[in-house]
Amino acid sequence: MAPQVLTQTANGEHMDITDCQFYKDVMAGLTSTPKHLDSKYFYDAHGDKLFQDLMNCEEYYPTNCEMEIFTNQTADICKALIGNGDAFDLIELGAGDATKSTKLLKHLIDNEADFTYLPIDISDNVISYLNMTLPVTLPGIEITGLNGEYFDMLKKAAAISDKRKVVMFLGSNIGNMPVADAEGFCNELRKHLSPGDMLLIGVDLKKNPATVLAAYNDRKGITKRFNLNLLERTNRELGANFNVNQFDHYAMYDPETGACKSYLISGAAQDVKIGEETISFAKDEYIYMEISQKYAVEQIDEMARKSGFKPLTLFSDSKDWFVDTIWQAV
Ligand code: AVI
Repeated sequence: MAPQVLTQTANGEHMDITDCQFYKDVMAGLTSTPKHLDSKYFYDAHGDKLFQDLMNCEEYYPTNCEMEIFTNQTADICKALIGNGDAFDLIELGAGDATKSTKLLKHLIDNEADFTYLPIDISDNVISYLNMTLPVTLPGIEITGLNGEYFDMLKKAAAISDKRKVVMFLGSNIGNMPVADAEGFCNELRKHLSPGDMLLIGVDLKKNPATVLAAYNDRKGITKRFNLNLLERTNRELGANFNVNQFDHYAMYDPETGACKSYLISGAAQDVKIGEETISFAKDEYIYMEISQKYAVEQIDEMARKSGFKPLTLFSDSKDWFVDTIWQAV
């Protein structure tokens, strides 16, 4: 009988790798034609650190653009969210370290808005961190962190309180889904809301193709390391033997569709072991890693309408590269 290959789960227990979702998704992706991996797995502790580095790198503009919006237009955004002043739950999907939302939260508290902040994140570390630190950095905040999948936690939020909901989905995270999936996601989100509830969504816009491409192909090679980290994670957690020096990063942007895609290209014909399985790569074969979809403003408005929202207000940065837009559930 083949020996069991074990991996350690987040709570320190050991499990057979073939039972773990990460293994199942990696195997499904690498046994498909063409091969692909799911970019949601970029974000382990190493990936989080690399993403921080990326956000500080010269060419990666989306974070700075959104930060500019949140810094210069805080009062207007808050006014729109407060509406007629009724109490509300401010829910953030994928809150991370809440750097951007802290600007809004501070303004809302200073203006005595009646709200509870409900950050949702798949990482229990993130939620414990926010539950502990935000009451210190933002005295007076009411916070209930929710650890789990977005839609499960939205159900929980609805069960906790019947206050109106304002959901934030920032950072152009919507761009990491192909357009059809993004529409499906917005439709599903709408089902968890009631008429009058709001969504504040950050979306990266179509722009000069060279600007977009440079952001996903930075000179220091941080994006390359960010992508390769997923192969390294597979080595660390699933005992695979990827030689990351045998893979190169390739990014492309199609200005017609607005799709920016990242691939890893095999530099040689090679076999890689993952647990008991062997995956063969031809020289120059690619693994499709990630989409970062860029939109035109009209497309964003259309997506709102198609998924049961009315676009209300649009906030853009000084270069018109990025927007945060408020939609209202109809
Ligand atoms: C998290 N997400 C919106 C980033 C993006 O721009 O698509 C992830 C990323 N991938 C490469 N660079 C940044």
